[in-house]
Amino acid sequence: MAKSSNLEDLRQELADDRSLPLRGANLVFGEGDPSAKVLFVGEAPGFHEDQQQRPFVGRSGKLLDKMLEDIGWKRENVYITNVVKRRPPENRDPLPEEIAAYTPYLERQISIIDPKIIVTLGRFAMSHISPQGKISRDQGKVFWWKERIFMPMYHPAAALRSTSVLEDLKKSFQKLPKIIKKYDELKKEHLNDVGAPEEEKNQEALF
Ligand code: URA
Repeated sequence: MAKSSNLEDLRQELADDRSLPLRGANLVFGEGDPSAKVLFVGEAPGFHEDQQQRPFVGRSGKLLDKMLEDIGWKRENVYITNVVKRRPPENRDPLPEEIAAYTPYLERQISIIDPKIIVTLGRFAMSHISPQGKISRDQGKVFWWKERIFMPMYHPAAALRSTSVLEDLKKSFQKLPKIIKKYDELKKEHLNDVGAPEEEKNQEALF
């Protein structure tokens, strides 16, 4: 309950923040279970998301729903949001200053929800957590980030354009239930590894 009222307070603060860019568009804050174990972070809302003020409800969203369904999960049991919470005009890529302006709100959303796993969809969302990351190299791998599991995945829009990307995205989703099941064990191993060199600790592909 506290999480949902904290999220509502944050949503209100975001809505009232006149310093933010893209204020001509609707606010798409995010939705799902405030106590979700898994948080999905996309790039920015598109046309349909702006219209409905809900994340991932267009073609990419339908694919995301299908991927969740295929692993036996329901959309309402995870939490879905974006780095940038308003639609950039003509769906252009978000600008660095737009990403920078909305990032503190994403950070606060993450700390309220406190998920075990953060899944980033596409390179923009990935670069928030892993600025040096490369989506083609890192997608589908499992990393630790601030004591959470971080898993970069391809963006569903890219999977709609390429069958090989779609296959990779499916494989990434298949890993999620296994990670949840093994989470406590993985965390223990990770904590035991705390003295290990940085590159081993963070860059390990767990599956
Ligand atoms: N693409 C995104 O990155 N986010 C959405 O909410 C919809 C499409």
